[in-house]
Amino acid sequence: MGTDEVPAEIPHDIPTSARVYAWSLGSKDNYEVDRQFALRSLPSFPEFVDITRANRLFLYRAVRYLTEEAGIRQFIDMGCGLPTDDNVHQVAQKFAPDARVVYVDIDPIVLAHARALLAGDGSTVVITADMRDQTAVLEHEETRRLIDFDEPVAVLFLSIGHHLLDADDPPGVLHHAIDRAVPGSHLAFSQVVCDDPVRGAEVEANANNAGMPWRGRNRAEVDALFRNYLEPVEPGLVDVVNWRPDPDQPPLAPVPDELLPYAGASKVGRDLTEYGGILRKS
Ligand SMILES: C[S@@+](CC[C@H](N)C(=O)[O-])C[C@H]1O[C@@H](n2cnc3c(N)ncnc32)[C@H](O)[C@@H]1O
Repeated sequence: MGTDEVPAEIPHDIPTSARVYAWSLGSKDNYEVDRQFALRSLPSFPEFVDITRANRLFLYRAVRYLTEEAGIRQFIDMGCGLPTDDNVHQVAQKFAPDARVVYVDIDPIVLAHARALLAGDGSTVVITADMRDQTAVLEHEETRRLIDFDEPVAVLFLSIGHHLLDADDPPGVLHHAIDRAVPGSHLAFSQVVCDDPVRGAEVEANANNAGMPWRGRNRAEVDALFRNYLEPVEPGLVDVVNWRPDPDQPPLAPVPDELLPYAGASKVGRDLTEYGGILRKS
């Protein structure tokens, strides 16, 4: 099956990023504490439903680009989140049936829910690990089994940069795998950004106070995380809704009823967005 053993404790007493995010995508794998956190936060940050969903639609387009146009056949998805529709391995294997995927997440619920999805699939694996320990991720026996660093690889950090605090050495974490990778490898990235420093600080405090590590950044701070040897693929790092939009891509599951009042809020204000793109190692 290609999964670690499920760790004993799945936290029920604090909200987790995996469950709150997945709720906005229509997942039912969440607890009261997750829903209450989201419903408390949304009046101040109503764009979250839209930007979460925009990110997941970006994920589909990014993985499609990486398989179809960049010819990538192996993926490491850092902070992969709960399985939902059109997961990375499903999108990649739709366009390249021989694609291999290592999913990495710190939240043990991800592994618990991925078991059924991945049963019998030897080309995809989920490991429970902290992406801040990149050596542990890359040296994990399942990563070593599936990923060949002599071939181009795509390293995905999607909607995850905001979980890297400055003390975590974000450039070190983000570059560890791509530094090892051969030219032609790619790094896909997105994170929540806010160009209004007051609102940005509020978002950051709200998440951190709930026990969810969060470092808000503005676009310039995100741009500064990436080194010169990585070339942005057109159109570069942008609000992800503008990253090669495709009106014909498969839609997401409907927004849950309780979140419907917030759907469309980003049409009013766009200072809180998901910012990202793909960079190529030359
Ligand atoms: C907002 S979700 C993004 C999910 C997915 N990447 C996507 O774009 O659809 C962030 C995920 O990162 C995971 N995460 C947060 N900190 C992490 C860490 N230090 N190591 C591994 N995963 C982490 C959370 O558990 C959560 O599942």
